[in-house]
Amino acid sequence: MIKEVHAGLPSMDSGVKQAVREFYDSVGWRGIGEGLYQNARYEDLRPVSREYIHRCHERVGRHLPRTGKYLLDAGSGPIQYPEYIEYSAGYEKRVCLDISILALREARDRIGGHGLFVVGDIANLPFRSDRFDGLVSLHTVHHLPADEQGGAFREFHRALAPGSKAVVVYSWGDRALLVRISHWPIRWIHWVIRLHARLRGRELELQLPSGSALDDGTKELVKASGTYTYKHGYTWVRENLDFLPGLEIRVWRTMSTAMLRAFIREHFGGRFVLRFIYWVEERLPHLMGRIGQYPMIIFRKG
Ligand SMILES: C[S@@+](CC[C@H](N)C(=O)[O-])C[C@H]1O[C@@H](n2cnc3c(N)ncnc32)[C@H](O)[C@@H]1O
Repeated sequence: MIKEVHAGLPSMDSGVKQAVREFYDSVGWRGIGEGLYQNARYEDLRPVSREYIHRCHERVGRHLPRTGKYLLDAGSGPIQYPEYIEYSAGYEKRVCLDISILALREARDRIGGHGLFVVGDIANLPFRSDRFDGLVSLHTVHHLPADEQGGAFREFHRALAPGSKAVVVYSWGDRALLVRISHWPIRWIHWVIRLHARLRGRELELQLPSGSALDDGTKELVKASGTYTYKHGYTWVRENLDFLPGLEIRVWRTMSTAMLRAFIREHFGGRFVLRFIYWVEERLPHLMGRIGQYPMIIFRKG
């Protein structure tokens, strides 16, 4: 059963959340074939990047408590990647909370009785305090209005049980140093790729696994534009989240999808380049967490 906890959605009349919810219900979590969602257009699905992305997903699991009663997945979506399902393997239940009912139906199809499914808002968690032995939230806080994001972290901290730990994957967006530096090179490379495709009279390929034949309607769905996000920078986190015990900012993934698509090529040693980047990330997790695209914001309940 999926529980609709409207008490958790007090500010759903805020246009932003309503728009985000409608986007995921009608576009983001619509299937486009082969177990893929429209949302996959924001990931690099080419084989050359697979190992790097897989290892970055595993990183989250390394920082979460391995066992416990309840793991809260705040903004679970449909739990779309196998590594992501693994985070709750040692827990009795994974509590999936999401604003999108379609996301939760898909999540329920995936993990069935291992899950509890709650429609709710991460800025107003519909749970009592001190309930969760672990908390994970990937790519969700940035969908909140800027002035509600600090409140979501307060809610995460409140819901955690003493002694437990949370991992939140966030994005610095354009504020990340490496994103700013690579902005123009990426644009030029994409321009060359588009020109090359046009000269050969080919439609620019949607970056989906080979063999995905999409009908015209699905192609339009894939191209649909995204929804609201707001990304604070490193300084904002340091200044506003310092109340969180054991606050640590480590790298989740340096490379954005745009960087991967532009710079990583199978024929130019792409896999080795990514292994090297991963190696650097492992050695300099705090620096890369600061200058790369996606940090993990990790904290404890004291
Ligand atoms: C980019 S998806 C990430 C899903 C999943 N965590 C993942 O990494 O695959 C963001 C998810 O957050 C959900 N979401 C957005 N705003 C939310 C809010 N205020 N409260 C709860 N969920 C929210 C969306 O419905 C969507 O499923």
